[in-house]
Amino acid sequence: MSPDQPRVLSGIQPTSDSFHLGNYLGALKQWVAMQDRYDAFYCIVDLHAITVDPPPPDQLRERSRSSVAQLLAAGLDPQRCSVFAQSHVPGHTQLSWVLECITGYGEAGRMTQFKDKSQRSGTDAITVGLFTYPVLMAADILIYQADAVPVGEDQRQHVELTRNLAQRFNSRYGPTFTVPEPFIPAQSAKIYDLQEPTAKMSKSLPDAGTLSLLDDPAVLARKIKRAVTDTETEVRYDPQRKPGISNLLVIMAAVTDRAVADVEADFSGAGYGAFKGAVADAVVAFAEPFGKRVADLLADPAEIDRVLAAGAARARAVADATVADVYAKVGFLPPATA
Ligand code: TYM
Repeated sequence: MSPDQPRVLSGIQPTSDSFHLGNYLGALKQWVAMQDRYDAFYCIVDLHAITVDPPPPDQLRERSRSSVAQLLAAGLDPQRCSVFAQSHVPGHTQLSWVLECITGYGEAGRMTQFKDKSQRSGTDAITVGLFTYPVLMAADILIYQADAVPVGEDQRQHVELTRNLAQRFNSRYGPTFTVPEPFIPAQSAKIYDLQEPTAKMSKSLPDAGTLSLLDDPAVLARKIKRAVTDTETEVRYDPQRKPGISNLLVIMAAVTDRAVADVEADFSGAGYGAFKGAVADAVVAFAEPFGKRVADLLADPAEIDRVLAAGAARARAVADATVADVYAKVGFLPPATA
């Protein structure tokens, strides 16, 4: 956590009671690994969490604290990185407005996540907030002058938009923003749903296909044993013809820090039952102590609030400086001191 190191910024939505294994393998595992090599800023994007089906206020508060506990349980150390809530740093929305004014309407409308989510909800339910969501995400990243953004594959297009907006602003107003690189894992960038192994694992699909990190171990094992596979018997990585087995191979490899080919070799001739049993054991070996750490951390909500306060103080120092620079470059009058 030194300003001399390259910067990293990433965020996660507190939109469910538990993160899922896709969140962990696609993003959080990299967040943890990057906290020593980077000056790292990680946030709970609570502003983003009200763009679709906002939860009741108490539930949002509960999920936000639980999200922080899960980040710490996954291995983030508040001594080595800044963990904060997006809503505690007003600069994100202050910068977002300026970025909205250099984003094309058509450009925002081409974001595939917006198209998917708006198709699913129907036109009457879509908010302007959902439409401008990726611009707020760009502000989250650019305000910290982030060099790298660890995310899963589904966020690639949003990071690409962020790069375009940074370049556009820089060429219009002079060098201001670092143009960030997405940091997307080679192996586990997209974990698939267990029941529908061609769709990404997601909180919005039915529960049977989603491995929630806070699921009971017996539930996790059952979901893995019931995962949809194919009519062959060979444990082989072939995402086109064997999406279910390939997904389980990727999960096994990522959870045990091995290469897919090595896991495949271990289970050649083993049969699906034995393979699924081993995947279940590996996932439970990770999730069980994780769940215990989360419960311990949640027993002391004041400590979670202290972590957030310290993280927000560090984040605000960086964010306020960027907003001041951007507002001056755009031509807003400096606020006079009385
Ligand atoms: P969110 O909250 O949906 O997901 C958090 C992270 O998990 C990754 N992820 C996956 N990775 C692999 N396989 C999956 N099935 C899977 N599902 C989710 C996501 O790619 C993400 O990295 N827009 C972001 C939140 C955000 C953000 C930011 C991220 C807001 N501002 C700034 C980075 C930087 C989102 O909705 O993530």
